[in-house]
Amino acid sequence: MFPIVGKRRLNDTMTLMVVEAPYIARKAQAGQFIILRVNETGERIPLTIADYDREKGTVTIIFQKVGKTTMLLDTLNEGDAILDFIGPLGKASELEGYHKAAVIGGGAGCAIAYPQAKALKKLGTAVDMIAGFRSEDIIILEDEMRAASDHLYLMTDDGSNGHKGFVTDALKKNIEAGAGYDFVVAIGPLPMMRAVCALTKEYGIKTMISMNSIMIDGTGMCGGCRLTVGGETKFACVDGPDFDGHEVDFDEAIKRSRTYAELEKEAAREENC
Ligand code: FES
Repeated sequence: MFPIVGKRRLNDTMTLMVVEAPYIARKAQAGQFIILRVNETGERIPLTIADYDREKGTVTIIFQKVGKTTMLLDTLNEGDAILDFIGPLGKASELEGYHKAAVIGGGAGCAIAYPQAKALKKLGTAVDMIAGFRSEDIIILEDEMRAASDHLYLMTDDGSNGHKGFVTDALKKNIEAGAGYDFVVAIGPLPMMRAVCALTKEYGIKTMISMNSIMIDGTGMCGGCRLTVGGETKFACVDGPDFDGHEVDFDEAIKRSRTYAELEKEAAREENC
């Protein structure tokens, strides 16, 4: 069992949890993920490692209540424990060698983008963080993102906080103003990552995205997380989750991400009953 040693509500649907998992904390690197199972009858879900503390032996995860398992996970509190917590899985992000990066997070994706910004800063890269949310009430980790970057551009669709518009508006403006990015990281909903990649392709800026695919085993065996990159079949769990965004077949990835949408809704309804 893996004890929960901290819990913080980030907004109405998002929660940060600190879990005691010393072996994972010892090896974890930016970009990797864990797979957890809340209890004996639970499904396995992947969650990106948002942070880790090697000395305390803890791993931080951030999740959004979007389905049955995340709703169940959210009912646990400090002092409770998670049955299975496996990792670190996936490849660590390759972040070395860049001069100036734009790290872009969309909604819940900011929870994954912000540790990437932190890791880039640690390597000496200048970092602009561009964070997009639908509205002010769902903004998360603002202080953390500000601390992890040289400049935070906060965007809301409705203009209720920061600048009104999409992350691509801020990115385009910065590029055209001569920001000089040689690397872009984009993490968030698939349509957002696709829009960022279309833009950076025009300007020839290398762009890394993190795929949050459906996963089951996390070891490359089940095929659940399959995607096409540069015309080749890849598996997000073992070949990623980071990929060159200019090579990803987004149409296929979006279609696959909707495979179980109806069943997921049904399971979430049952959990709510
Ligand atoms: Fe099964 Fe990736 S989760 S192949």
